[in-house]
Amino acid sequence: MILIKVKNYSELSKRAADILTSEITTKPNLKIGFATGQTPIGLYKELVKAYKNKKVNFSKVKGFDIDEYYPIERKNFDSYYYYLHKNLFNKVNIKKSNLHLFDSETKNPKKECLNYEKTIVKNPADIIILGVGTNGHIAFNEPYSKFNSKTRIIELTKETIQRNSKLFKNKKDMPKKALTIGIKTIMQSKKILLLASGKHKSEAISHLIKGKINSKWPVTYLRKHKNFIVIVDKPALG
Ligand code: GLP
Repeated sequence: MILIKVKNYSELSKRAADILTSEITTKPNLKIGFATGQTPIGLYKELVKAYKNKKVNFSKVKGFDIDEYYPIERKNFDSYYYYLHKNLFNKVNIKKSNLHLFDSETKNPKKECLNYEKTIVKNPADIIILGVGTNGHIAFNEPYSKFNSKTRIIELTKETIQRNSKLFKNKKDMPKKALTIGIKTIMQSKKILLLASGKHKSEAISHLIKGKINSKWPVTYLRKHKNFIVIVDKPALG
């Protein structure tokens, strides 16, 4: 694990964008797993800026999302599909045909997850960007997710529902389930970049840095990965 400590959110976003920009320059057809949530918004803003300044080119980049609410209409402002288009995909020259995104409207989520897993395993990601939940979840792998878990439909915990529903226009509209890539799927990525900002992440980060590797805090599993970079700001360090 490489731990990069930065002063604040703005520095965190810039450091993460520098890593991504340099990876894409080295490998123009980089396959990226994109996180959602509040944390990577600054990173995506920096990437859009870099694209506008011609410092990065997304024309060959391949991308997929790592989780999504279920069920939810793609056009819903609160879907991760909408979020990723709004914050990044619609603002850079990434090709829509190079994107693989969860079908959150499917009637058959199990089949969707099986297909999703197959395509990722066939062509593992070069890098997955992750945030972390206050309860240590990564993507939507909630506490007690197994190390060998694959892409699947999952019941969200009360804590996650409570936190994330605040972001919904109407709290009650938040789906109680989600589609997520598994821990095993994440570990197959060649590189992992985890971002954590703010005091509310300090418990999860303390488990990641000092705690035992255990299923109650899924984020700790990542310490087993050989190419794992964490960028944390001062408040998240506690
Ligand atoms: C959300 C997402 C995760 C995200 C995490 C942290 O529920 N499913 O992919 O990394 O929780 O979110 P935030 O960055 O808003 O704190």
